[in-house]
Amino acid sequence: MKLFIDTANIDEIKEIASWGILEGVTTNPSLIAKEGRVFKEVIKEITEIVDGPISAEVVSLKAEEMVQEAEELVKIHENIVIKVPMTDEGLKAVKIFSSKGIKTNVTLVFSSNQALMAAKAGATFVSPFLGRLDDIGHRGIDLVKEIVEIFDFYSIETEVIAASIRHSMHVVEAAKVGSHIATIPYGVFKQMLKHPLTDSGIERFLKDWENAVK
Ligand code: E4P
Repeated sequence: MKLFIDTANIDEIKEIASWGILEGVTTNPSLIAKEGRVFKEVIKEITEIVDGPISAEVVSLKAEEMVQEAEELVKIHENIVIKVPMTDEGLKAVKIFSSKGIKTNVTLVFSSNQALMAAKAGATFVSPFLGRLDDIGHRGIDLVKEIVEIFDFYSIETEVIAASIRHSMHVVEAAKVGSHIATIPYGVFKQMLKHPLTDSGIERFLKDWENAVK
């Protein structure tokens, strides 16, 4: 399973990229707004840090306008992936993008039918939001599992990004059901790194080392 970061914060991306494990980045309008910076400048900076798919989301709701927005975004870097909402207009746009060889990430996916249609339109990635489903009392991970199974069954090449991840166990669950990618917030990366037994183990080794014959 590939590990992407779900943020538009440059410092967070730099830190996780420095660990040598980061394979892509997803952003969304809320994450961009939080940074208080010019959208395209942030996206460009991200492409200079991470050599992998960088999702930048369009905000238009009409296919034609999505295409216009995307044309500007793909000029930034070859790794740009156009993130498109899961609507009828979004599907139309994805079809156009796939005919032009532009990569897409269909976002706000909450059902397997939505994922299947996105794949049929030629989406490179689909993003089921597992945390937001958990929030309303559904098992988000079941959706990720079902989509992975359907795509495997028909050898569909569209990759599944487990999105809306809230804690480190979501990442484990996504890996267990065969999600191709998990897009993970910065704080969850930190949780994944830490274990109290690792910390106490280092402390004990260093203490014992003080008494070792050198
Ligand atoms: C996915 O690409 C989205 O940016 C993201 O995972 C949404 O997560 P949230 O539900 O925590 O906002």
